[in-house]
Order: sequence, then structure tokens, then C-alpha cells
Amino acid sequence: MALLSLLVALQLACGASLAGAPDDQPGPETRLLQAMGLSPRPSPKSASPAPVPPLLWRLFRRGSAPGPEPCWVEEFQVPGNIIRVFRDQGGWIPISEPQGCLCLQKRLYFNVSVLDAAERLTLAQLEIKFGLNAYGTSPLAGPFELSLYRASRLALRGMAAHAYGRQLVAARSFVHLHQALTFDLTGVAEEWRASAGNLGLILEIGAPAGPLCTGLDAAFEASLLVVSLAPAPCRGGRPRRGAPRGPAPAGSHVCKPRRLYLSFADVGWENWIIAPQGYLANYCLGECPFPLTEELNSTNHAILQTIVHSLDPEGTPQPCCVPVRLSPISILYYDNDDNVVLRHYEDMVVDECGCR
Ligand SMILES: *[C@@H]1O[C@H](CO)[C@@H](O)[C@H](O)[C@H]1NC(C)=O
Ligand SMILES: *[C@@H]1O[C@H](CO)[C@@H](O)[C@H](O)[C@H]1NC(C)=O
Repeated sequence: MALLSLLVALQLACGASLAGAPDDQPGPETRLLQAMGLSPRPSPKSASPAPVPPLLWRLFRRGSAPGPEPCWVEEFQVPGNIIRVFRDQGGWIPISEPQGCLCLQKRLYFNVSVLDAAERLTLAQLEIKFGLNAYGTSPLAGPFELSLYRASRLALRGMAAHAYGRQLVAARSFVHLHQALTFDLTGVAEEWRASAGNLGLILEIGAPAGPLCTGLDAAFEASLLVVSLAPAPCRGGRPRRGAPRGPAPAGSHVCKPRRLYLSFADVGWENWIIAPQGYLANYCLGECPFPLTEELNSTNHAILQTIVHSLDPEGTPQPCCVPVRLSPISILYYDNDDNVVLRHYEDMVVDECGCR
């Protein structure tokens, strides 16, 4: 209901007709999703997808107060307007008996093919951590040796058919299990996208000095954070103004922002949008009467048009009451693969209207 009334209000604002959309044209919801780069509508597979990573919550909260630069992710100092956290879909690789000091061996797989071809990937960061509850009370002490390989199709002679060739991407030693380890995989992720050959990674953690490390796998967690820049208008940083207090007082028929709250639950989007639950979108409505006052933010052309309209009301319409200043919002949602996505959208809230 709210979505429809938004679209109706936007179209009626300047007297446009709603009729005449042929049947094969996409409906209002599809159009809005397309405009948001979300077509078809995301639908998480799992009824209870993974919790939102704390970092994304933090960035989401900060996103409601945009930083100084648009399309720029302050936290990582890279361009971007979409941040995805991919869950790991790789399986365990059984450790064959004689490899005494190997604690765990695992495939890591992140399906980055959900990135649109037009998106520019600017950062891919792997995070590996160990759930604290598993080792909080009796911490395992390292040193541990971690090796991360990129799996490739290059099979070596004598290898089983299902085995992969591998190429070392990173190696690191660490002592403490409570610290998350991060690895820059931007280049690797770019190659996964470019060659459509993503066989994932192979991770090995060993403890050569020999602490007992069986059970490390139970605490293991991995995720891939990917920042990308989708083609979108990136406008200069604008301070978010206070939303207009509406509804407009009775009798006010002059062009101004009107209050419109868009509830995602009303649109049926609550199963994939995590936050916000809705937002104050507003719209512009009202007349642009002669003579146009300064508050109506008119162009010279609009002033001219009202003069002509006052002389010939039938022949020339009034100027339109349209948004002249908009501000962005951020949306946190689940994609079709149950990954958590934080996406920044320009021009979602009407702050000011004008006669144009
Ligand atoms: C990766 O995602 C794409 C698009 O969402 C899907 O078509 C493909 O089957 C997925 N691949 C794997 C291995 O899950
Ligand atoms: C026109 O802009 C001014 C500030 O530049 C603003 O205060 C005013 O509300 C705007 N007018 C409308 C109709 O939004």
C-alpha cells in the first residue's frame, strides 16, 4: 500500500497520467527493485540466515549520517557503495592420519558471482576467527602456522581426479586464537570473477611445536568481506537535514515536501530487508502559483512559466513541484545466497522541493 501510494504520489505530483502502461511493462515493484539494482527481488534461502556481522551493523548506523565523501568506504579507505559479507560454503577436508601436526584442513568457498558485472570490486578481505566460547576457558596456546592456498584446476600427475592443484596465497604464524586474522584477497577475488573459475581456497592450520589442537575446527569461522562500487550517481557530501515535519498544515497548497513513511513490511519486503524497517521517503506536492516566491526554489525558467501560465492558464501549465534536494539512505539485507549486504543508495529521501 505505502509503496503504491508513494509511486502514485510521485506520478501525480505533476499531473502525469497513471494510465497507459502496457501489460508487458514491469510493475511498480519491479521498477523500484531494478532502480535499486536488485532484480529479481532477493529471497533468502534459509529461514534463519546467519546473524549480521557487528562490523556491518556499525557501518549501517554510521551510514545514516553519510561521511564526507560519497561512494567511499571510510572504514577501508576504498571506493564503494556496496559491502557484502559472504558466508563460507566450503567443506572440511579429512586429515589423513600420519600428518601429525596438522590441526585443520578446509576448503573455503565464497560465491562472488552474485556481484554484477558492472560492479567494480575494490576490496576483498578474508576474516578467520575462532569462536571464543570454545577456547575461552582453557585457551590453546600456539604457535600455529597457517597456510592459505588458491585451488586451481591444474591437476598434477598421480593426483586423484577430484583433487585440486594449489598455489600459495598467504602464510602466517599466530599465537592467540582470540584475535581475528584478516587477509587481503582483492586480487584473488578479481580473478575468480574474471575467469569464472572459482574453485575456492584451501586452508591449513598446523601446530608444529605440538600443542594438542584437535577440536580447533569446531570453533572455526571464516567470512569474506567484499566492497564494490556499483555504477550510481555519486554526489557531493551533503549533510542530512532534519526530515520535514509533516503533514503540511491544513490549507497549505503551495509546493513543499510532504511526509511519507515507507514501511518495508507493508510492501512485503520484511523477509529480506534487515534494516531499516522503513524510512521517511517524503514527496513533493503543491502548487507553483504566480508570483513564485523565493522559498519555492524556482529556476528563472519556472518564474517565466508561471507568468505565461497566469496569462494563458489553458495553454501553458504551472511549473512542477519536484524534489530539488535529496539525501541517501543505507539498507542492510540478505541476498539470494543468505549473505549480508550493506548498500548505500543516493537520492532516497526528499529534503526540499522546488518549482521547476
Ligand atoms: C553461485 O551463485 C550463482 C548466482 O547466484 C549461482 O548461479 C551458482 O550456482 C552459485 N554457484 C555455486 C557453486 O554455488
Ligand atoms: C527551498 O530551499 C530552502 C533552503 O535552500 C528550504 O528551506 C525550503 O524548504 C525549500 N523549499 C521547499 C518548497 O522545499
